[in-house]
Amino acid sequence: MLEIKNLYVKIKNNLIIKGLNLKIKKNEIHVIMGPNGSGKSTLSYIISGKPKYIIDKGKILFNKKLINNLSPYEISKLGIFLSFQYPIEINGITMYIFLKNILKNKYKNKVLFKKIYKVCKKLNINKNNLYRYFNVGFSGGEKKKNEILQMLLLKPKLVILDEIDSGLDIDTLNLIFKNINKYKKKYKCSLIIITHNTNIVKYINPNYVHILYNGKIIKSSNKNIIYNIDKYGYKKIIKNENKKNN
Ligand SMILES: Nc1ncnc2c1ncn2[C@@H]1O[C@H](COP(=O)(O)OP(=O)(O)OP(=O)(O)O)[C@@H](O)[C@H]1O
Ligand SMILES: [Mg+2]
Repeated sequence: MLEIKNLYVKIKNNLIIKGLNLKIKKNEIHVIMGPNGSGKSTLSYIISGKPKYIIDKGKILFNKKLINNLSPYEISKLGIFLSFQYPIEINGITMYIFLKNILKNKYKNKVLFKKIYKVCKKLNINKNNLYRYFNVGFSGGEKKKNEILQMLLLKPKLVILDEIDSGLDIDTLNLIFKNINKYKKKYKCSLIIITHNTNIVKYINPNYVHILYNGKIIKSSNKNIIYNIDKYGYKKIIKNENKKNN
């Protein structure tokens, strides 16, 4: 479904992604972990087409189609969804108007209202929030739930969740992952889950875990590597991989 080949990404002339390769098939869950500043969010932005992120070299293919130069809107229409590490606030636009706009080609006006209400209920989102400005004054956890609300309504094929679990209370964490797992089961989507949480395996069952360090995936493994990270941190893995390459 997604294939990234030898990707190099620059931001303001700084090379951030440095030769990254990644292949994701339909219905797979890939967890990406790695130290702060390794390039995880940059990777999520570049897949989603964020402006000013320049692809210096390499290819991003989605269902065999080159998406390097597509706009965020075009990429979203192909079925790629990104939940931001830091969801943005939009002053002056209510959540309902925002959702109505992003969903206008998906649902008829008549059913839209019902759909939105239904998903709000699933996520334990107060319906009154729909009439507040988008994310303005919302708590950290509420903003994260609003990201999942969009995901469940847009029905993407590839879901990228950038630290969806950070800052969530235990009940919200359980509720969000219950909904994510249900969605994955029903629609057989693929997921990229970026996280620092070594307890992530309590909530989802990844096919692969990748360690991103210094703009590159230095190790791909099964979920057992997370127990190692929990015990020893990243130092040991980074040292071993450096040794192999020298
Ligand atoms: N606009 C920018 N100008 C210069 N450097 C940038 C810019 N945006 C990001 N970077 C740098 O790119 C690197 C990768 O950042 P990124 O946000 O992708 O890291 P991350 O792996 O998501 O980290 P974290 O785990 O802390 O979220 C960092 O060193 C960051 O400072
Ligand atoms: Mg990040």
